[in-house]
Amino acid sequence: MSRVAFVTGGVRGIGLAIVDRLKRDGFKVAAGYAGNEDAAKKTADTHDVMVVKGNVGDFDDAARAVKLVEAELGPIDVLVNNAGITRDAMLHKMTAEQWNEVIFVNLASIFNMTRNVIEGMRERGYGRIINISSINGQKGQMGQTNYSAAKAGAIGFTKALAQEVAAKGITVNCVAPGYIDTDMMAAVPQNVLDKIVATIPVGRLGQAHEIAACVAFLAREDASFITGSTVTVNGGQYILG
Ligand code: CAA
Repeated sequence: MSRVAFVTGGVRGIGLAIVDRLKRDGFKVAAGYAGNEDAAKKTADTHDVMVVKGNVGDFDDAARAVKLVEAELGPIDVLVNNAGITRDAMLHKMTAEQWNEVIFVNLASIFNMTRNVIEGMRERGYGRIINISSINGQKGQMGQTNYSAAKAGAIGFTKALAQEVAAKGITVNCVAPGYIDTDMMAAVPQNVLDKIVATIPVGRLGQAHEIAACVAFLAREDASFITGSTVTVNGGQYILG
């Protein structure tokens, strides 16, 4: 029996790589997306997966998306909270809108999605919840008070929920990517990007499939003793003890 995985923000970038990998690993996969119809159609066509449109920052919309996926593919076994945006600005220039957008899409979304799958997972005694955090939630990043706060919040959420559901066969973990070669990087000015790459010991940006490999590992049934952890995948840019 194939297990069911729902990947939010699953039609581009890291999310698409996760969708691709989980599909190849034998999961029935749903890819969430906010509004990029072209990317959604392409993902559905090329990967033969369900695509579901919705706003993860809105609790009712997240509930609707979960219901749609469960009606079509069956109960969700693996939830990957990947959807994320940046609205970078120094705090003294940041608007309340830039703050709120990032907190809702990157952090409130984790509650909105997870709350809507957790009761089913508890009843069935099985689940894998994988939250995509960031190196910048671990070390902070100038220009990203909103994003760093949201991504650090993901780590706290993970540690708390992991304890709540450990005895129910459900693991909850974070993956914290470093700087990965995706569209998100296009918003970073080239002179800043050059400075960032110079601090990565591996000497390059990461590739989305390198994050997907880590997520796929945590999604496995035999990753059952790993919970509450944050796995850093950052080319050695920030090494935690
Ligand atoms: N690393 C090193 N230096 C940085 C930097 C960074 N990440 N971000 C900004 N700086 C430096 C700039 O090079 C500049 O230095 P100089 O004055 O010596 O030229 C100085 O800070 C001020 O920057 P700007 O002139 O660009 O100021 P601004 O107000 O126009 O813009 C900013 C500020 C919005 C923060 C812009 O610099 C920026 O977008 N920086 C990138 C921030 C960043 O790293 N975002 C991560 C995006 S990727 C991501 O979020 C995915 C993930 O999980 C890792």
